[in-house]
Amino acid sequence: MVTFVTTNPGKVREARDYLDDPVEQVDLDYPEVQADDLATVAAAGARAAYRELGEPLVVDDSGLTIDAFDGFPGPYSSFVEGTLGIERVWELAEREDNRDAAFRTVVAYCDGQPFEASPEPVDTERRGQDLAAGERGEATTDAQVNADEGIPVKLFEGIVPGTIVAPRGDGGFGYDPIFEYDGRTFAELATDEKNAVSHRGRALARFAEWYAEADR
Ligand code: IMP
Repeated sequence: MVTFVTTNPGKVREARDYLDDPVEQVDLDYPEVQADDLATVAAAGARAAYRELGEPLVVDDSGLTIDAFDGFPGPYSSFVEGTLGIERVWELAEREDNRDAAFRTVVAYCDGQPFEASPEPVDTERRGQDLAAGERGEATTDAQVNADEGIPVKLFEGIVPGTIVAPRGDGGFGYDPIFEYDGRTFAELATDEKNAVSHRGRALARFAEWYAEADR
């Protein structure tokens, strides 16, 4: 069984499409750290949730990165969506020659154990222990910093490249109307079409492949 710690049941439904094991939602609103990259946020979330629950679990963190803005809004995507709104993000991107962007998801798995005995991850060799020093600012108090450094986390990233365009389409959510992939915006795709190519799907597929093989 996989415990998915999230307040969003939609993420759990999507995870069930990818995993052979049953997926259970734990609706825990763990504290999110502020950091410039999604991996750090996801890793910190997994550790915070593990500290709370003490059982194997996954969390995920997603965002839109815009090349002309050096990856912004990235981990701040939710805040920017709620403050500027996606129309404004399009207006800012419209001024740029380069409108390349990507949706990214990092799935973070934590069971409190080191991963030496596990098969290599499909996507990335990054583990909690492997994160660069600057990426370790996950914990929220000094006591947690010390406790956290010993908790390994395994990360799986899914990326879908696209282009920022004027809003089109009625489907999806969030930044979907301004994100064009292969000639259509994500808001113009049916849910199953989007899931088949989405960043979240790609990260979940990589996690599922590793989890099925993992020595647990
Ligand atoms: P979260 O990590 O899933 O909570 O997402 C963070 C931010 O990215 C929110 O503003 C979401 O609306 C946005 N976001 C995440 N995934 C998608 C997606 O598939 N399409 C559009 N926006 C997304």
